[in-house]
Amino acid sequence: MATVLSVSGSPSASSRTGRLLRHLDQRLAAQGHEVIPLDVRTVPAEALLGADFRHPAVVEATELFARADGVVVGTPVYKASYSGVLKALLDLLPQYALAGKTVLPLATGGSTAHVLAIDYALRPVLNSMGAAHIVQGWFTLDKDITVREDGSVTVAPATAEALDQVVDQFATALHRIPLLAAAG
Ligand SMILES: Cc1cc2nc3c(=O)[nH]c(=O)nc-3n(C[C@H](O)[C@H](O)[C@H](O)COP(=O)(O)O)c2cc1C
Repeated sequence: MATVLSVSGSPSASSRTGRLLRHLDQRLAAQGHEVIPLDVRTVPAEALLGADFRHPAVVEATELFARADGVVVGTPVYKASYSGVLKALLDLLPQYALAGKTVLPLATGGSTAHVLAIDYALRPVLNSMGAAHIVQGWFTLDKDITVREDGSVTVAPATAEALDQVVDQFATALHRIPLLAAAG
């Protein structure tokens, strides 16, 4: 089974993106994968804004990326793109931190006007970092995510079904990369 790093790129303490990722983590864990959550907002601001490559939190995040077979990257859409804190962390990682890895890009947003932000903004960055395979992503409207009092989430049925599909496609792709590498 694979090791999956699940990265939430929201700066918000009550992040819907983060909650959604932790919800999806459970599906991957139920399939036997080791899932490691990483919320970018837990990386100290001085490390992110000061480009402190040697800060322990940045070193730890770099190691988590290196360990992972697959990476889920979730971001809120801010100003028609991915979040600034996500970019700040990605900028501190090695150029090819995603080499050999399968990546699932996800976004949440307030308007379907920006449903393509995953493909025109996030995907090129992930590609530039050497991702072996970036699977089909999914954009979820914030109004389709309901956060319960205990912090768990309910996703509107049509969106939930689509999310299950992209997560399962990601899980299938996780198995293919090692096979392709072994085949040379
Ligand atoms: C500063 C800011 C900018 C935003 N810009 C956009 C935007 O350009 N397009 C959009 O669809 N939603 C936009 N939103 C809405 C968020 O993407 C949406 O509510 C998202 O689910 C928030 O995720 P979070 O709770 O994980 O931060 C913006 C929200 C904020 C706070």
